[in-house]
Amino acid sequence: MSRIEVQGLWKSYGDRVVLERVSLVIEPGSLVAIVGASGCGKSTFLRILLGSERPSRGRVLLDGAPLPAEPGPDRGIVFQRYTVFPHLSVLDNVVLGLEFGKSRLLGRLFGARRQQAREKAAAILARVGLGHVLDAWPHQLSGGMQQRLALAQALIVEPRILLLDEPFGALDPGIRAEARALLLELWAEREMTVVMVTHDLAEAFQLGTRVLVFDKVRRDPQVPERYGATVTYDLPGYNRFRPRLERPLPHASLPATGGF
Ligand SMILES: Nc1ncnc2c1ncn2[C@@H]1O[C@H](COP(=O)(O)OP(=O)(O)OP(=O)(O)O)[C@@H](O)[C@H]1O
Ligand SMILES: [Mg+2]
Repeated sequence: MSRIEVQGLWKSYGDRVVLERVSLVIEPGSLVAIVGASGCGKSTFLRILLGSERPSRGRVLLDGAPLPAEPGPDRGIVFQRYTVFPHLSVLDNVVLGLEFGKSRLLGRLFGARRQQAREKAAAILARVGLGHVLDAWPHQLSGGMQQRLALAQALIVEPRILLLDEPFGALDPGIRAEARALLLELWAEREMTVVMVTHDLAEAFQLGTRVLVFDKVRRDPQVPERYGATVTYDLPGYNRFRPRLERPLPHASLPATGGF
């Protein structure tokens, strides 16, 4: 688990300010849900945490040290759109996650290490409920299964931080409920820090130990790109369960929603 500290973060693309003055600490093991209007910079923020984008100003610290300049195996990401490779079997898609994560210099794994990687991939696929389709092609899987495959791909490197960008947005309601339950189980088992973007406010409160709302506090109607979004609300979620952490969560101060 890792403590993430964001200090005075700004992100601009040319003249367009996307994020401004974002400062926050994400405690190890928390499940932070991020909500906000379309285009307000949520995905940009996740990519900065991943290390695939650099802040224009400010910095991100991981356990007190500056974030490495590129994505590393300590951080896994799952996007809304499935990122699986269509020409690889389910099992090989997950093995590939390990090849990318653990041996970027070598590229591919061979021999006994490859066999170990295949066994580990098969175990994780079984954990996410795909143990029976190891040799299938991704296109043979349902949307929910493809998303679980993407989750397995991210989890095989045992990331300390899992970044999820609207992971359940494309799923049917029933499947989405299953996927949420699976995420909560994996989060608890692996003691990961999870940062998840969702457009579903109820989902954010249901899953999150903490909910961040990104919005603009300053607006220029003539020049919309002049100001960026920041964290306008920082609220406790209804998720009271936190795996084996030093400090208890603050008590939730909001009433529960009526469920789903
Ligand atoms: N690489 C880029 N170059 C230029 N502009 C970009 C780039 N990436 C994002 N933007 C702009 O930054 C703004 C924020 O984009 P971002 O994708 O982070 O928003 P978002 O909150 O994730 O939106 P959504 O809810 O629709 O996914 C948008 O105006 C987008 O056009
Ligand atoms: Mg986005």
